[in-house]
Amino acid sequence: MNDTQPRIETDRLILRPFTQRDADAVMRLAGDREIADTTLNIPHPYKEGMAEDWISTHREGIESGDSLTLAITLTDTGELVGAVGLTVQKEHSRAELGYWTGRQYWGLGYCTEAARALVEYGFDKMELNRIYASHFSGNTASGRVMEKLGMKHEGIMRQHVRKEGSYVDLVIYGITRKQYA
Ligand SMILES: CC(C)(COP(=O)(O)OP(=O)(O)OC[C@H]1O[C@@H](n2cnc3c(N)ncnc32)[C@H](O)[C@@H]1OP(=O)(O)O)[C@@H](O)C(=O)NCCC(=O)NCCS
Repeated sequence: MNDTQPRIETDRLILRPFTQRDADAVMRLAGDREIADTTLNIPHPYKEGMAEDWISTHREGIESGDSLTLAITLTDTGELVGAVGLTVQKEHSRAELGYWTGRQYWGLGYCTEAARALVEYGFDKMELNRIYASHFSGNTASGRVMEKLGMKHEGIMRQHVRKEGSYVDLVIYGITRKQYA
């Protein structure tokens, strides 16, 4: 593991930077309508070239320390399951956690396993003081992942974002370094 090529291993998963070779799988998994429905920044339809463009932004984020986006892959087969990432606000030593997993992999604990490892990495290696996350109200599965990570429900920001023309409430969860310890 180093600063530009972070690699995190868990019981069943390897988290590692995306490469352009992942683009087809990203398009197939993230291109699912159900992924776009509960995320703010994943477009639908997910067009040719979007995965390549997205992946090409990751390196700069990792090198500058402004973000860390990792591919969630199965240790046994190497297949791509999804993505997990931290967007850092350095002046506050805090980061926002985000994630998605392909629909065929839902409910198998992969998101929780990956996000738990990244939260640990964020506190231990990136020396963050706080990690937070938000989900659209109604996205119970995502809220459940946040709970399983030990994050606390902190509140609801009413109509905080506009999604496809409608205002959506954001449910906020967070954990501080002190709570984590
Ligand atoms: C949210 C998401 C990442 C969860 O991924 P996952 O790999 O299925 O997550 P896990 O298996 O680790 O955990 C899911 C938990 O939610 C629970 N869950 C799933 N659907 C649920 C529902 N409709 N109501 C209540 N709980 C639900 C599961 O039972 C599990 O909890 P458990 O371990 O206590 O049984 C995945 O559904 C996803 O990618 N959704 C679309 C994109 C998205 O919403 N990203 C997050 C944006 S904030």
